[in-house]
Amino acid sequence: MTGDLSPIDKAKYVAAKRAADMVEDGMRVGLGTGSTAAWLVRHLGDRVRDEGLRIKGVPTSARTAQLARQVGIEVITLDEAGTLNITIDGADEFDGNLNLIKGGGGALLHEKIVAAASEEVVVIADAAKEVGMLGAFPLPIEVIPFGWTTTQMLVEELLVSADVMGRRITLRMNSGQPFVTDEGNHILDLHLSRIGNARQLSMAL
Ligand code: A5P
Repeated sequence: MTGDLSPIDKAKYVAAKRAADMVEDGMRVGLGTGSTAAWLVRHLGDRVRDEGLRIKGVPTSARTAQLARQVGIEVITLDEAGTLNITIDGADEFDGNLNLIKGGGGALLHEKIVAAASEEVVVIADAAKEVGMLGAFPLPIEVIPFGWTTTQMLVEELLVSADVMGRRITLRMNSGQPFVTDEGNHILDLHLSRIGNARQLSMAL
């Protein structure tokens, strides 16, 4: 099964399998977004089919919802679930203190809300995403379209006193148009190169 996968994809596959095995019968499960989380959803689908595992999944994006249904996972909304037993999701970068950058796939708002509603959050990532200090991967911020340029200006001002190396901000694009999230918002990508104090920056933003 994993024979034709690249080493990175193999690592994603294995991490996702390990996390899928943490899910127990009857759980309400937050399903992350991205290529690693997609492996998780497929593994859970296998368990539903092969073991009769009964779970309810709350997807963090439309594409995860589509995949979950395809592989036979019952999909419910977060409102229907209320709270979740576990959420399993990917990440774009992590450091030795397990600080993360997420949102490369543009699903960060739903991912954060789903994670906040979960008793346990498991993040699965291959070793290539480990960094000494966060920031090489652009930090995504989801912004509502209303006044987004003013929001960008305020974030630029905030970054002046932040412990970061770069300060360039770009509006994420998709086929020549601003990228639109499942929530109808845009994404600002912050090219910071190096984030000296992730917790402080997170609070400030
Ligand atoms: C989605 O918005 C992100 O937070 C993903 O979890 C992240 O981009 C990881 O994606 P990959 O597993 O595809 O690298």
